[in-house]
Amino acid sequence: MQVQALGIVKRFASGGPAALAGVDLDVRSGELMALLGPSGSGKTTLLRVVAGLEAADEGRILFGDEDATTIPVRRRGVGFVFQHYALFRHMSVADNVAFGLTVRRDRPSRAAIDARVAELLRLVQLQDFAGRRPGQLSGGQRQRVALARALAVDPRVLLLDEPFGALDARVRRDLRRSLREIHDATGQTTIFVTHDQDEALELADRVCILRDGRIEQVGTPDHVHDDPASAFVMAFVGESSSLPVIVSGGTVRFRDAPLPVPAPAWPDGPAALHMRPWDIAFAEEGGLTGTVAMLRRSAGGRRAEVRLDGEGGHLVEVGIPVGAGVARGEAVRLAIRGGRLFPAG
Ligand SMILES: Nc1ncnc2c1ncn2[C@@H]1O[C@H](COP(=O)(O)OP(=O)(O)O)[C@@H](O)[C@H]1O
Ligand SMILES: [Mg+2]
Repeated sequence: MQVQALGIVKRFASGGPAALAGVDLDVRSGELMALLGPSGSGKTTLLRVVAGLEAADEGRILFGDEDATTIPVRRRGVGFVFQHYALFRHMSVADNVAFGLTVRRDRPSRAAIDARVAELLRLVQLQDFAGRRPGQLSGGQRQRVALARALAVDPRVLLLDEPFGALDARVRRDLRRSLREIHDATGQTTIFVTHDQDEALELADRVCILRDGRIEQVGTPDHVHDDPASAFVMAFVGESSSLPVIVSGGTVRFRDAPLPVPAPAWPDGPAALHMRPWDIAFAEEGGLTGTVAMLRRSAGGRRAEVRLDGEGGHLVEVGIPVGAGVARGEAVRLAIRGGRLFPAG
């Protein structure tokens, strides 16, 4: 089921700030779309407007060709999973998953419900836990039950709001993988809210980056990471640091030294050069001088934060090989090898 948001505006207080300030989003049928953005950027509000839990002040929601804007939540055919999904504590796992089917007006037969529940529990790998109560499960298992429960009624759209937000890193990774596998198996159109860029990039077919109630960019993980539409996207989707530069005649300069960054058709004047850690490297000679302010280890490699000598005390983040012999406080030289220009400011 294709889902479209057209010109969605939402204010919680009349005359107040817009939580959504004109959002247009097209989620393709069968797609797994991540809504990514900092806290307060409007992710949950957009999801709730799609669900029908919140009415927009302006704009329309389309499900396929159908205008769903005024269809109430119960008849919109959406499945939800929230960060803290209240499972029915007094019911078994199987009864929780069956719940949506048992309250249907066109209630399936007991045998049909049992078969569907068994199928869903296999899908979320909880077939051995059907008789347990939610209180006897781990947090990750509970979210799997919530997912199975949301899928039970075969919703037109699956909506997940930070469903793994309260779980620890290892469990999150496992669930991410499961969700991707379940999505591949069911082909369910899915909108997934997260503030975690790794989660969005790893899971989604496309990522929609929100900022202050507006969409900054929509694209594949590769697209938004490698070709960010704004400095905000570049900083939010992956690591980066920036330096103020001057462009003149297509040449980019930092403190008069030309940098190997192409700037064709870029207007003369100040600009901001944003660099990924691997756009900067330690150099033997020449280049910029600075001092290692901090060393960090991340899963992907090591990072050195280097404070440049001279005015401004600029900090840049350098990707360094795991075995590089470098110490905090050491004087180093840096060569800038690439980066992307954005307007100054
Ligand atoms: N029920 C509400 N009443 C008033 N303001 C709200 C309400 N829900 C959200 N907001 C405001 O709308 C903006 C977007 O919030 P939200 O959609 O929850 O962001 P996110 O999910 O990205 O953190 C925020 O400024 C938030 O304070
Ligand atoms: Mg939220």
